[in-house]
Amino acid sequence: MTLSTQSAPLALITGASTGIGATYADRLAKRGYDLILVARDGVKLEQLAADISQRYGVAAKAFPADLTDGESLKKLEQFIQATPAISLLINNAGTILPGGFKNSDVEAIDKLIQLNVTSVARLSRVALDGLRQHQHGGIINIASVLALAAEISDPVYTASKAFVLTFTQSLQVELADSGLYFQVVLPAATRTEIWNKGGKNIDEIPGMMEVGELVDAALVGFDNKEPVTIPPLQDETKWLEFEKLRKALVPEFLQGQAAPRYR
Ligand SMILES: NC(=O)c1ccc[n+]([C@@H]2O[C@H](COP(=O)([O-])OP(=O)(O)OC[C@H]3O[C@@H](n4cnc5c(N)ncnc54)[C@H](OP(=O)(O)O)[C@@H]3O)[C@@H](O)[C@H]2O)c1
Repeated sequence: MTLSTQSAPLALITGASTGIGATYADRLAKRGYDLILVARDGVKLEQLAADISQRYGVAAKAFPADLTDGESLKKLEQFIQATPAISLLINNAGTILPGGFKNSDVEAIDKLIQLNVTSVARLSRVALDGLRQHQHGGIINIASVLALAAEISDPVYTASKAFVLTFTQSLQVELADSGLYFQVVLPAATRTEIWNKGGKNIDEIPGMMEVGELVDAALVGFDNKEPVTIPPLQDETKWLEFEKLRKALVPEFLQGQAAPRYR
């Protein structure tokens, strides 16, 4: 693709055709990023790319891909490896199980895992070498507050988001010396098409955040280099205390003997 200027940063966003991904595309273009927009609906992506280029004067390219399709994913991986100019990867594409776990067939479960889990890990891996060439390279992974709330949604979606949270936190540790920034964002209910796709009436769900508010808040977290960003959480100290307690447990797991209650 032709970049708008030599110095414009380049971001790749998955799930960019609607909702949170499309809003990231808008906000990053406003900040002067050139964009690569990924989703299945090529027509929608082309329209969005043209609209964004016209409004903000940046270069935007549509890259239609079904991330649950092996061939399609491989092509995107090859594109990422051949495009080291990418300095920001946003793993945002995600889906839900409309019928919940007990009403879903194994193919739907497998596809959700391929999209919400496998593509996140694989795209992050192939992007690393290129990202490292940038002074401010990074990855934003979109998880969900459901990563911390197993009680609320279906087991596979919830666990897929727990993967994204833990995966990103572990990347932050393994690649602490890389100079890269890894952010994980945990939205709660946000007004996008995902709810209709899941057969839910959006107007019946309490505490729905507007998508612009969610992305703008997540970008404040990004600018502050926050490791974990939870836009709806009003009292940040609760999360910090939770993390402190979790981290304090870690050395306690390093024991060769079972606890007395198991003997
Ligand atoms: N909205 C919420 O309440 C909420 C809350 C917490 C977390 N999240 C997370 O936020 C992320 C974005 O969700 P959203 O609410 O913006 O949903 P959305 O409006 O349904 O958008 C999902 C995006 O992913 C793309 N996508 C779906 N399946 C794909 C596939 N197989 N291959 C490639 N792209 C695919 C869709 O485009 P195509 O259909 O054209 O492929 C679309 O661009 C997801 O990871 C979701 O789990 C959302």
